[in-house]
Amino acid sequence: PTPANWRATDDFLAETLVGHDGALEAALAAQAAAGMPAIEVAPVSGKLLALLVRISGARRVLEIGTLGGYSTIWMARAVGHGGRVVTIEAEPGNAAVARASIDAAGVGERVEILIGRAADVLPTLADPGPFDLVFVDADKESNTLYLDWAARLGRSGTVVVLDNIGRAGDIVDPDSADSMVVGTRAALEMLGTDPRFDATALQTVGIKGWDGVAIAVVA
Ligand code: DHB
Ligand code: MG
Repeated sequence: PTPANWRATDDFLAETLVGHDGALEAALAAQAAAGMPAIEVAPVSGKLLALLVRISGARRVLEIGTLGGYSTIWMARAVGHGGRVVTIEAEPGNAAVARASIDAAGVGERVEILIGRAADVLPTLADPGPFDLVFVDADKESNTLYLDWAARLGRSGTVVVLDNIGRAGDIVDPDSADSMVVGTRAALEMLGTDPRFDATALQTVGIKGWDGVAIAVVA
């Protein structure tokens, strides 16, 4: 097995199980045209988020890190009519691109984009909580802060998903100088020790290389 097989397998899985979608592909094209990095979740992971929303029956979703709105569209579709996604984006330019893509996908009325550093925005979010599912996918240095807010803005049973927990295996290095690794290791330790969470994690390989996702439920 090689990384090339990972990519080909992910492409096969996406073709077979996810298929093509004009609005999602247009959102990625708009994101690329605006110069944003292609660090959105993979198609199979976007669908995983949507399935987690549906499996948990989530109607109120909080996303930390909008980027171009790709994962936002996945989750906004999954909450259904009357559902709501609040998504926080630090970069106003990113938020504008995401806004257009989300509206073009036909789910604009379900999505509120809050512009600012999540550390500043999260304390203002009394409504429309409690959130039923929280997806944390922003600056990794702040992961423990975001998990704390996920627990505070959630309820017993809230699903918490934390992206990028593998980082090509760099996560095993306790002496890493990479601030993203440091922040993610701290988040995983929090998920393992903080009594507010019950969590596990899955390594993933595919078009995004070798990484992973942690999935938790709030106690
Ligand atoms: C990075 C961030 C992400 O959210 C991701 O999915 C992949 C990479 C990054 O900042 O390197
Ligand atoms: Mg990510």
